[in-house]
This record gives sequence, C-alpha cells and structure tokens, in this order.
Amino acid sequence: MCGIVGAVAQRNIADILVEGLRRLEYRGYDSAGIAVVDLHKNYTRIRRIGKVRELANAVATSNLIGGTGVGHTRWATHGVPSEVNSHPHISGDITIVHNGIIENHQALRSLLQDRGYTFVSQTDTEVIAHLVEWERRTATSLLEAVQKTTAQLQGAYGAVAMDSNDPERLIVARSGSPIVIGHGIGENFIASDPLALLNITRRFMYLEEGDIAEITYDNVNVFDASGQHVERAVIELHAQQDAGEKGKYRHFMQKEVFEQPTALRNTLEGRLTHDAVITESIGVNAVDILNKVEHVQIIACGTSFNAGMTARYWFESIAGISCDVEIASEFRYRKFVTRPNSLLITISQSGETADTLAALRLAKKCGYMGVMTVCNVAGSSLVRESDFAFMTRAGAEIGVASTKAFTTQLATLLMLVTALAKQQKRISKAKEKEIVQALHALPEQIEQALALDKDIKALATDFADKQHTLFLGRGEFYPIAVEAALKLKEISYIHAEAYAAGELKHGPLALIDADMPVVVIAPGNDLLEKLKSNIEEVRARGGLLYVFSEQKSGFEAAHNMKIIRMPKVNEITAPIFYTVPMQLLAYHVALIKGTDVDQPRNLAKAVTVE
Ligand code: M6R
Repeated sequence: MCGIVGAVAQRNIADILVEGLRRLEYRGYDSAGIAVVDLHKNYTRIRRIGKVRELANAVATSNLIGGTGVGHTRWATHGVPSEVNSHPHISGDITIVHNGIIENHQALRSLLQDRGYTFVSQTDTEVIAHLVEWERRTATSLLEAVQKTTAQLQGAYGAVAMDSNDPERLIVARSGSPIVIGHGIGENFIASDPLALLNITRRFMYLEEGDIAEITYDNVNVFDASGQHVERAVIELHAQQDAGEKGKYRHFMQKEVFEQPTALRNTLEGRLTHDAVITESIGVNAVDILNKVEHVQIIACGTSFNAGMTARYWFESIAGISCDVEIASEFRYRKFVTRPNSLLITISQSGETADTLAALRLAKKCGYMGVMTVCNVAGSSLVRESDFAFMTRAGAEIGVASTKAFTTQLATLLMLVTALAKQQKRISKAKEKEIVQALHALPEQIEQALALDKDIKALATDFADKQHTLFLGRGEFYPIAVEAALKLKEISYIHAEAYAAGELKHGPLALIDADMPVVVIAPGNDLLEKLKSNIEEVRARGGLLYVFSEQKSGFEAAHNMKIIRMPKVNEITAPIFYTVPMQLLAYHVALIKGTDVDQPRNLAKAVTVE
C-alpha cells in the first residue's frame, strides 16, 4: 500500500510527481504529498489530506519549483489520515517517503527521543527520517547514511531519501515493498509501479530484495544487501501509455469490466491451437514439473483466492489431481504438511500482496517440487521469486475491485489444468478439444454478457436500499457467488454473504425475509435440479429471488422472483461467464449508492503490508 514517486531531473518535476501519484492512487488515497529541492537548495513541501486531486490543486496554486523531489500517496497504517501524518517526512535536511511497515519503530522511536529528536507524527516512517539524519552527521554520503539506517530497520520498506543540502541525488532502498527505477535521458525516476512513469519512460530496472540504489541525472548505482555494487537489467516495457486513463468510461472498474473480451483474447493468444493447449507456452521447465505433479497447493488472497477455489474444482474434475486452496495469511502462520510431489501455485493480480509473497517464501523452504505463480504484473516480486510464472495478461487493473484480473486468472488456470491433464494423459483428446473451443468462444460470449448491462442496471435499484444480500451457487459456482458477494460489499458497502446453496438449511435460511435479496447463480448443469429445491426453500419463506439462468432452465418469473435470462454457454467456462453479470450488478448498485467505486473506503489495490 502507499505509492511512491521520485525524480532527479534538470527540469521542474512538480507535475511529473503529481501525475505519477495520480497513477499510483490505487495504492492508497488517504493523503498525499510532495517535496522538491532546486539547485540553490531551496526546499518546498506540500501535503494534503484526501485524494491526489487536493494535492494537485495545492501544487497548481503554489510556486513550487525543483528538479529533484519525492512524492507519496498514503494508505494509513500507523497514525490516522491527517496532514501531519502524511509523507514526505522531514528531519533536518533529510526528507523521506516510505511504503511498508517498520516493525521495530517503537524501540527506534525511544532511542531517537533519547538522542533529542522530537516526533511530530504518529507514523513509523518518521523514525526513518530521524535515523537517516542521525547517520548523515557522521557518514561520508547520503548513500552510506541510508545503508547504516536500513541495517537497523525491521519490517518492510520501499523508501526514498533526499538531502536538501545535496540536491542532485536520491537514495532508494527496497526490502519487502516493490520499487522500480525509470531510466530517462539525463534524468532518472523512481516509483512503486512502472505505471506511474509510463508517460515519461518505457525503460525500467526492478530493484531486488535488499537493494539500495543511488540515483543522479546520469547514473543509477545499485548495491545489494551486502553492500556490493551490482548490475540490474534494464528492460523495455510495452504496456499501453493510456493504461492509467479512464477514456470514455466513468470509472476504471467499468472500463476494466468492459475490457474483459480483449483481456481474455490476450490471455489465450499463443497458448491454444484450434483444438489443443500448447503446453510449452507455460514454459519448458514447467512442462517437466507438470509431468510429475501429484498434488497442487494454491495460495492467494481476496479475489485471487476465489479464482483458486474455482480452479480446485477443475484440478480435481478435469485433471484428477488433488488440490488444496488456502488463504495466504492463514497458510503462512500454521504448521502444514507438504504432500509428496506437490506444486505450489500462488495467484495474484499485483504480484506484490505481502501475505502471498510471505507464503511463497515460506513454501520455498518446505519441500514443494516447484513454485509457480499465476500473476498479472510482469517483473513483480511473485513473478521474480517463483520458479515459473504463467501470466494472465489482463493489462493494468486500476480499480480496487478486481474484475478482469479474476476472469483472466480463471482462463489461465483452466489452460493450466488442461495442460496438466494432457501431460499426464488424464484427459481425452475430445475433452481437451471441448475445453479449448469453449475458451476460444469465451471472449464473444462475454460480449453477450456485457450486453445485459442495461437490464442489470434496472435490477440494481432493488438492491441499493437493502442492508444485506445473499448469493447462492453450487459446485464451481459457489466460489463465483463468493466473488459476487465480495464485489458487492467492497464497492457498495452492503453486507453480502455467499453460501453453497445446499448449506442454506443449516443456518442461513433463518435470515430470509421480505427484505433479503437472494441472488442465485443457476446455470443449466447437473446440479440445477438440486438448486431448484434450494430456491423453493427461499421462496417458501418470502425471500426476494434473483435467478441468473439459461432460457431453457424451466424457471418462470413470479411474485418475488425475477429471472435474468443468460445465453447458454459451455458448462466448463460458465463460471467465467456468470462472473460478468455479478460484476455489473455490484457496479450499478454502487453507482446508485454514490460510493467511490474505484477507491472504496479503507481499501487499497495492492496490499503490500501484512
Ligand atoms: O493483487 P492480488 O490479487 O494478490 O490481491 C489480492 C486481494 O487483495 C484482492 O483480490 C482484493 O481482494 C480485491 N480488492 C478484490 O476485489
């Protein structure tokens, strides 16, 4: 959480910093600030509580000029969102911006108070500012002062230090929080995510764990955790520059929902023939491992966890391989048994989720035959630290509510399951062909689901004044119901829960009354008749039913029961297809409620703290 930008340039960088923060706002949006220094050592800092636009307004009416500077958009961890807690933090000539959590901040705070430092904020970050200031008094350079400081820090940080007395350099340190360096011509930049700088450069260097880099106009010198000078590759990114723009859409979430046909086409490209999966497209090393896998352990958080839960049905029913799925924050803190020949798969949009990353690092020491990630961000920590990555190719996802990342994760996982089944000769040629053709048909079918937008918008009015909503599904549609509930609560603040429909009579049926909307995901499959009985249980108790089902499913609209007719699609890809109306429903309810759809309260896009 929190977004960082920095620049060392021979031009005024205020607008670059503000634009970078605007693009990073998905990482946190409680408050924002920038600080710049010019060649005459004139220093200015502006901070504002609230969104980046508050900061942008303040910067526009100021006389802020400088070629070296840092910026920060905050998601509060230590200390309430307030101007005094916003970054950058200052100690003497030293300015710091920081993403992460310093776990030993209390001990350091006491030490620094004993040395005479006065703290003005409640943040853990302020200890970094004072520590660097203290070390700078005796160190030969800012670099050395930061190296001595990081040796005393415990926890996670991506941090940038600036010395207003030395205005042509920045020092950046990475430990547990992502940092990239953007390379320009006669100028260099720093950010938490390349997206912040795509309007300026395409050439990026990813810092590795423990790296500290010194950035000037012309040079980027990187030192590893042991202080050795190291080379890190500079790569060219081909991401779209308009990735950070809403275009014709009102919200990023809406844009990303409607981008799903394209995102899915990109995900499938080069990985399927007309009737088969191209196993090698997962990677040569991956194929060796797939041949031997006897068990799969999936680890993820939030929406990515729901993708894993859906994939579990596929691993077991299509590939006949046992699969466990666990929330990363649980997995990392319990004693678990690693099964023989088990492949660990992490799933993540950002590739930076702290719990998932920690679970991966733990798993690497626990005897898994390999660690793989299904991820959307090239160069992210999960991608770099896994044995191999199967990329989802959804494109940049900015809305905090994950949408196209989820459907592309599902498509990627289905390809992986099919490849695994094929490698181990557990699938017939005909079944493989059926899955592949269903995947090929999916982008067009998602377009049909998106065409329901108007109908779902009309339906949304029924939900906006309700306090609660239940979502029901069976089999692989149960995790889709869980994802639907997550979307609704996340952006509309309506309490929503999902149940496996067969579980209803074991408790939740007591909740049903005339104020309880119950959304049922009811595709035509083997479980439809069972689901119909569950629907009757709700009807008999006066619940308000909204049934998403196919034309020929036999449902008739009735008092307190609306039927949303869905086109018929292949059973295997149906979970991906039925996700789309659920996303649209959450979006339209949130619109009516007037919430901040792209940046819902208390949340951030990339959860890089525990
Ligand atoms: O980047 P990741 O996929 O690892 O993120 C995991 C969750 O934080 C994320 O899916 C979150 O639940 C979304 N906001 C849900 O829409």
